[in-house]
Amino acid sequence: RIAYVNGAYVPMSEACVHIDDRGYQFADGVYEGVSVRHGKLIDLEPHLDRLWRSLGELQMMAPMDRGPMRLVLKEVVRRNRIKDGFLYLQITRGVAPRDHPFPAQTPWPAMVVTAKRLNFDAVMDRAMTQGVAGSSQPDIRWGRCDVKSTSLLPNILAKQAAREAGAFEAVMVDRDGYVTEGSSTNIWMVTKDGTLVTRSTDDNILPGITRASVMKVARDLQMKVEERAFTLEEAKGAAEMFLTSSTSCAMPIVSLDGQKIGDGTPGPVAKRLVEAYKAFMD
Ligand code: PDD
Repeated sequence: RIAYVNGAYVPMSEACVHIDDRGYQFADGVYEGVSVRHGKLIDLEPHLDRLWRSLGELQMMAPMDRGPMRLVLKEVVRRNRIKDGFLYLQITRGVAPRDHPFPAQTPWPAMVVTAKRLNFDAVMDRAMTQGVAGSSQPDIRWGRCDVKSTSLLPNILAKQAAREAGAFEAVMVDRDGYVTEGSSTNIWMVTKDGTLVTRSTDDNILPGITRASVMKVARDLQMKVEERAFTLEEAKGAAEMFLTSSTSCAMPIVSLDGQKIGDGTPGPVAKRLVEAYKAFMD
């Protein structure tokens, strides 16, 4: 595998960063994950829009303009001969002696890009036939979850707790009992009358790119979509649940805390969305 590291394409074994990089010491950085389908970067422009927004919110500069960045991303995909996969891009504030405030002399931001294979046909096969289990976990994150920061400890702890409970994803719940999002996904439910519900993005969750595309696909299918908060209890009584993310596409959640959602198999609404999203990717 080949990685892009600060201006060079290098074998993974030689892909290193400085120990004084603020990304390493403080998780002072942002990232994006983009799916690659048939060699194409899915929703690249919305991902770049979100990256630029994250950089701006943290007063970080971009290491290059969007044009060259597109070229680097495509080159990493090409050099790794990825047809279906996942591209990871990370930008950190750069190298400076360890001190909390931004360095007085702004360092050049460090940029790293990697890519790996991911079998989307297998993902979508799982979505159509099995789905995944969810486990509710308290959302203990900070107040800026709209920024796609590499500071992911609360997400990691939630995902780990979910895995230890035998589930695929953590369904994070705020102090008032409302579902926020997954540890690395957005969470949806389908009400008994067939309305799709997902939390609104001005509510301090990550504005998922897959969330936006699935929403568009759903509206094109004349489905009704509501953006509002819903409680864990409401979700447990829903007809269906599913999650969205770049790596999972649309994935039915068939049980939550060991309790079946609907009949405990991927439901008709989620399955229609999986197929429609697949068509969108293809
Ligand atoms: N995670 N919510 C959170 C907290 C996320 O980290 C992600 C993405 C999403 C879904 O966003 P998108 O549809 O743009 O992938 C929602 C990526 C995949 C990751 O951390 O690897």
